[in-house]
Parts: sequence; structure tokens; C-alpha cells
Amino acid sequence: MRPESRTLRIAEPLIAELSKRYEIETISLEGSDYPCVDYKVLIDRNNGIVPEEYADTARRIAAADRIVIAAPFWDMSFPSILKVFFENMSLFGITFNTNERECYGLCRCDKVLYITTRGMNITSGSPLEQATPYLNALSFLWGLGEIITVSAQNLDYSSPEEIETKIHDAIRRGLDICKEF
Ligand SMILES: Cc1cc2nc3c(=O)[nH]c(=O)nc-3n(C[C@H](O)[C@H](O)[C@H](O)COP(=O)(O)O)c2cc1C
Repeated sequence: MRPESRTLRIAEPLIAELSKRYEIETISLEGSDYPCVDYKVLIDRNNGIVPEEYADTARRIAAADRIVIAAPFWDMSFPSILKVFFENMSLFGITFNTNERECYGLCRCDKVLYITTRGMNITSGSPLEQATPYLNALSFLWGLGEIITVSAQNLDYSSPEEIETKIHDAIRRGLDICKEF
């Protein structure tokens, strides 16, 4: 979201590494205007109306071999635009489906790399950290597979030198993960 994003500093070298093995497609949500899914959107969907651009993006997500999500930690989770985006991509018959008993995922992906930085000293999996529980739940709905997290924390209470060390450590851990990703 911020041009000087520390999350982006971690994400860029990892995406560059993955680009050696994968063709990369990027979706940037900064400045995007996805609407909140409200009653009007539901009525449209019930009438079979979904913007073609959204359906097309959802098809690209469903067809992806791997997904990388880079998002700062905001208000104990990820920025709401990402939730709004997920809701707009959560489309019957594209990212998930249902039968008479349950919902099931339609996505090809079986590993998601989630990259984040946190201002406070909150570790991945802490009850105070509400991003990975949601991503795990979404993975269950869409069939995205394992969520692997690369994070740096306490960045708003660290010295500039400590921040650099934490960012470099996260990049090193992430590059290791990318070897098997
Ligand atoms: C709108 C906003 C909300 C934030 N909320 C939290 C929060 O709830 N918990 C936390 O640990 N840090 C919070 N932070 C701090 C960021 O997580 C931290 O500065 C992070 O490194 C920002 O990532 P970026 O450099 O990629 O923008 C918030 C920052 C912003 C701008």
C-alpha cells in the first residue's frame, strides 16, 4: 500500500526468485475500486450478472499454480481492500463450488506464500494475529493448499539497523522457502 513498503521490500526478491521457475502475473490492489459485496451485488449475482473483468481475474486465480500474497499487517489482520478483493473473487463455479452437502474449492494452487510485516511484536499464529487464520479458512473454501508465512515483526519499535536486519532475515528465509515452493 505504501510506496516505501517494507512488506514489498521482502516480496520483490522472492517474486524475482520465483520468476525463474514461474510465469508471474501480478494483481495490485492499491488504488483499486472493487466494491464491497452488498445486497445489490448479491441481486446481480443471483441474476447471473458478474463483471466480466472480475470473473476473468477469478479464473486466473483459480488457474494459478502458486499464489503469493504480500500485504502489510493492519488492524490486526490484512488491509480491508484484500478482504473486499477476496469477496469479489469468491464466485460459484470459478474459485469454489457447492453440492447438496458442502462447498469445495476449485483452485489449482496447492501452496500460498503469504508475506507480511507487522508494527507490533506479534508472531504468526498468535491469537492477536488474525490474518493467517482467515487465509487458512479461505484456503479451505477455495482449495488453495498450504499457507506458508514469511513475516517480520515489531518493525515500528525497532531501530533502523534492526529493521534492516529483520528485512534481510525475512528475505533469506523466504528465498529458502522459494527453493521448494
Ligand atoms: C493503517 C495501519 C494499521 C496498522 N495496524 C497495525 C496493527 O494492528 N498491528 C500492528 O502490529 N501493526 C500495525 N500497523 C503497522 C504496520 O503493520 C507496520 O508498520 C508494517 O511494517 C507496515 O508495512 P509496510 O511497510 O509494508 O507498509 C499498522 C499500520 C497502518 C498504516
